[in-house]
Amino acid sequence: MCGIVAYVGSQQAAPLLLEGLSRLEHRGYDSAGLAVLSGTSAGVRTAKRAGRVRDLAAALPKRFGGKVGIGHTRWATHGPANDVNAHPHTDADGRVAVVHNGIIDNAAALRPELADAGVELVSDTDTEVLAHLVARSDADTLEAKVAEALGRVDGTWGLAVVHADFPDRVVVARNGSPILVGVGSNEMYVASDLAALVRHTTTVAHLEDGEIATVTTGGFTTYRDDLTAVRRPAHELDVDAADFDPGEHESFMLKEMLELPEAAEHVLRGRLDERFGTSHLGGLNMDARDTRDISRVRVLGCGSAYYVGQMGASMIEELARIPAEAEPASEFRYRNPVIEPDTLYVAVSQSGETLDTLLAVQEIRRKGGRVIGLVNVVGSAIAREVDGGIYLHAGPEVAVASTKALTNTFLAFAMLALQLGRVRDLSIADGKRLIAGLQSVPSHLEKILAGSDEVAEVAQVLAQAESLFFIGRVRGYPVAREGAQKLKEISYRHAEAYPTSELKHGPLALISPEVPTVAVVPDDELVERNVGALHEIAARGGPLVVVTHDTVDLGGLPRDHDVRRIDVPRCERELDPILLTVPLQLLAYHASVALGLDPDKPRNLAKSVTVE
Ligand code: F6R
Repeated sequence: MCGIVAYVGSQQAAPLLLEGLSRLEHRGYDSAGLAVLSGTSAGVRTAKRAGRVRDLAAALPKRFGGKVGIGHTRWATHGPANDVNAHPHTDADGRVAVVHNGIIDNAAALRPELADAGVELVSDTDTEVLAHLVARSDADTLEAKVAEALGRVDGTWGLAVVHADFPDRVVVARNGSPILVGVGSNEMYVASDLAALVRHTTTVAHLEDGEIATVTTGGFTTYRDDLTAVRRPAHELDVDAADFDPGEHESFMLKEMLELPEAAEHVLRGRLDERFGTSHLGGLNMDARDTRDISRVRVLGCGSAYYVGQMGASMIEELARIPAEAEPASEFRYRNPVIEPDTLYVAVSQSGETLDTLLAVQEIRRKGGRVIGLVNVVGSAIAREVDGGIYLHAGPEVAVASTKALTNTFLAFAMLALQLGRVRDLSIADGKRLIAGLQSVPSHLEKILAGSDEVAEVAQVLAQAESLFFIGRVRGYPVAREGAQKLKEISYRHAEAYPTSELKHGPLALISPEVPTVAVVPDDELVERNVGALHEIAARGGPLVVVTHDTVDLGGLPRDHDVRRIDVPRCERELDPILLTVPLQLLAYHASVALGLDPDKPRNLAKSVTVE
């Protein structure tokens, strides 16, 4: 999704801005641009174009000097990805430039108003109106001009503004889209994502919604939208610049998958109570009595966060015997949901910024419901909005396709299910059994990753298919959904997930030697039924990839039938889903590489979806 960078200091801004933008490339974008201030008389100089940041760098005019500047990567929402619609947007005199993440909802209403006043709008974007509104304000300061312009618009924004009449500063504002101010030594940085800052500084202040800040070489000042000052101190963040660098790995996705075992250790650390066979999740802000009073659990998330939410809901229902279900947050918020006081709502989000999930959380809280967050990014919007939660401690996840945050979400759900279960009927023996299972997960993940080359061989073959099915039953169904999602997003193969039991109610009609099926078949109480379904597929000539345990006998399939198996280590059956998911992540990754694609930059997709 769109990215913002800004710089104020003693160095030339353009190279720093380009470097910052390249660090935001993983978020997904289709055009990029810069604006620099080179003094009061010269006005604002802009350069922008559709395509990659490297295209912008190549096209930058030779003389593009200036020590104050803003930059942007755009992900088209209003109007196609072309040079004109790329940010920054300026006023007609070229004295104001604006970069903006989010959506101005009333832009369509403001455009004719501006046109009637003689303003010529040159782009299709919602953002351009902001540049004109700032330029037309009579206020004395840039902060007041920005505040006045923002008073005219509805919607969401993270934005940065420069103005030739105020050449020492960048003014930034936040409402629903992140803005971080990074403190350097006699220089200041701004970004919408930490990835663009960490090479320069880890001393960072997060703006809150409704705030405006002035950033100059000497520091920054924060205000509410009525321009009363508010203290927003910068903090030293515990992050490592190396986390934002793929190092010797071919891609961030591969690097992050190789980090699965270590990430799993981090989320479990200090949270398992072996003596009482339960977990300690202090961040939930709930005591045993609160926990006992829960009569239903509803999990909300989008995309992979929703699929792992489905895995979590079924684990909670199984272990705690509380009715639990998952729903896409993007659907939930549009259907005027009934919010029950004894329901525990669980919002799942790696980034903590996904707008659909954030708005669902706000709707629940507005109606008096209790909501906890399973969130990776500390201090993110959802983390700040919820009543409590479990941080995922997966470390920064840069690749668009979520891997280590997903595994850690599952483990966080397992600990939640354990805690809910142990204040109910889950026995101490079962609690201890699960704890032993959880403790074995990191080493099981190591073993699965060690089999990556064999999965790559399977992926070589699967990548040739135009269309595939993924099937799984009960615990295996969300695993199949997540597998299909990963393959779709990074290899662009058409992949559809079905519950195994639904096969003969429709999709069987499509099974043929050209349409492979990836089947999730754990060695659990449903194994015979699942193996039965494999026979039905084989009888119709459908190639099979079976993700299973080595104890499962697939015997009886027609001789010479095209069947490949990927075995995962056995764990406690409740924890099987996550171990069955990892080979599917590997499968998607290797299919993407086999097709010559870049798994880190899937077309049309963004790392965090901060618009509706
Ligand atoms: C898939 C993927 C997306 C995200 C979804 C939610 O690999 O990464 O489907 O899971 O956009 O993002 P978060 O978890 O940041 O709310």
